[in-house]
Amino acid sequence: MKILIADDELMVHEILQSVCGQLGYETVSVVDGQEAWEKITEDEGIRLCIIDWMMPGIDGPELCRRARERKDCHYLYIILLTSKTNSSDIVEGLNAGADDYVVKPFNFEELKKRILIGMRIVELEDRLLAAQGNLQNANSRLEEKVFERTKQLDCLYQDLKQNFVQFIRVFVDLISEYDKGLGEHCKRVAVVAKLIGQKLSLDETELEQLEVAALLHDIGLISIPRTLQENAVFLWDKNNQDQSKQHPLIGQSILKRVQSLQEVGNIIRSHHEQYDGRGYPDGLKEEAIPKPARIIRVADEYDRLKQSSVKNVRLSVQQCLNYLQKYRRSILDPNIVDAFVKALQN
Ligand SMILES: [Fe+2]
Ligand SMILES: [Fe+2]
Repeated sequence: MKILIADDELMVHEILQSVCGQLGYETVSVVDGQEAWEKITEDEGIRLCIIDWMMPGIDGPELCRRARERKDCHYLYIILLTSKTNSSDIVEGLNAGADDYVVKPFNFEELKKRILIGMRIVELEDRLLAAQGNLQNANSRLEEKVFERTKQLDCLYQDLKQNFVQFIRVFVDLISEYDKGLGEHCKRVAVVAKLIGQKLSLDETELEQLEVAALLHDIGLISIPRTLQENAVFLWDKNNQDQSKQHPLIGQSILKRVQSLQEVGNIIRSHHEQYDGRGYPDGLKEEAIPKPARIIRVADEYDRLKQSSVKNVRLSVQQCLNYLQKYRRSILDPNIVDAFVKALQN
């Protein structure tokens, strides 16, 4: 660390160089303010300045002001030398940015102590900067670790999500083993519902929830006796119909045991609601019906039509779409029917 001595009296230079030398510091000497400013801006080794108030070029207080305006450098400790002794002068010098103030003629021992105080403050600043640097490095390392960990957790989460949907698909395969018609119906409805969801620009999470809800939408039918299911619907009496209408609620109650499937349960509960409010179990209307449930309703109707036949002839896709158009606004959400028609046209 160097000390800049700026004074136009050679005598003062000799004394100050000797004092700084005794303290073990290298000095840089200049005799006018302009040269002092150049050294301050060029030589980063200068950390403490002893500056005379009155100098040719730039005076001491102006040098202090300029030094304090610099922000991108080490702190420069400045001792102002002067023969001015008025307290108003001292205040002016300190206001200009000087750290200390020494009146000529000065006492060597006192000057030495003041230089040492200045150097102590400069060293403290260095230690503070080093600690700050270490802290920033530690912070960067921590950020890198957090980023890495977040990436790993995200991968794990994606795996879990993927495995979860895979698990639901396997589960529906099991339903197919028990009841082929029911299992395959759920799978087909899921494919169509996903197609509509994509057409409606649902995000990845919404699509995944829609697929799971569609795969499980008729899970409550497992509780309906198979002998009853094997009979044509028009043969069902009122009691049978009431029993069948329970399946959305039964489906929801089965899923209630799994925390992450609560929302899917709500969708399943509403998959037999009608757009005009005449559905079941809650008689919800229009937007009050969860959107995924409205989508599943369209996919469900389409599958029912597609699997039905007139005089042993299966309905064509166009005939099914014609039926769906008839149900716009009564049973089905018209926007979702339109989205489905567009998706099939594409
Ligand atoms: Fe159903
Ligand atoms: Fe269904």
